[in-house]
Amino acid sequence: MNKIPVIAIDGPSGSGKGTIAAKVAEKLGFLLLDSGVLYRILGIAVLKGGVHLEDIDRLTALALQMDIEFGPSGLDSVTLDGEDVSLEIRTDIGSQMASKVGAIPAARNALFKRQLAFRKPPGLVADGRDMGAVVFPDAAVKIFLTASAEERAQRRYKQLIGKGIDATLPDLLQELRERDKRDSQREISPLKPAEDATILDTTHQSIDEVVNQVMAQCNNELGMA
Ligand code: C5P
Repeated sequence: MNKIPVIAIDGPSGSGKGTIAAKVAEKLGFLLLDSGVLYRILGIAVLKGGVHLEDIDRLTALALQMDIEFGPSGLDSVTLDGEDVSLEIRTDIGSQMASKVGAIPAARNALFKRQLAFRKPPGLVADGRDMGAVVFPDAAVKIFLTASAEERAQRRYKQLIGKGIDATLPDLLQELRERDKRDSQREISPLKPAEDATILDTTHQSIDEVVNQVMAQCNNELGMA
């Protein structure tokens, strides 16, 4: 049994899981895994390498071998085989490619192993779609964040504009709905809460309110109260 605690924070795009996970990791002094970044990087690697999504052997090799390095500031800067792809992975194409590779079992299996490697002392906060249900089923705390599609599109819009990436709200809303559909209807690891997850609707909640609720559960489960 792995004794290193994991806090799993799952949910759809724009539910706030990235922001909440980063704050909770900081408060607990735990490592952070934004699993979406791995899917995004694989999507970009597929494009750059001209790999066909049907070519399972090449796709698997790429997922296992691509060299990913996170910058000192954590997840804000990331390189793929030495090239800075921090902005590219956040573009519309980056999102769509991530969702496409995420629907392929071989890609998920290859990334599964890479995700397990992030579990190191003193603990890990992992955010994604299937952290609690599939990758870390023994997580000490499992949270599933939701919010209305409109609210999530609005948040994504602000995030992208803040990073200097062009975006329009209607396009984002449409793209988000398509991605939600693909993520929740795929056969492998569909987007849905783990059976033992706590579901939190963040539509009308501030970041701090959500962080406090998650921290209360962490303190409870990890005996840090
Ligand atoms: O979380 P983020 O929006 O960065 O994820 C991008 C895409 O990667 C998602 O739409 C989803 O298709 C895929 N993904 C996944 N499983 C995860 C994390 C992300 O399938 N654990």
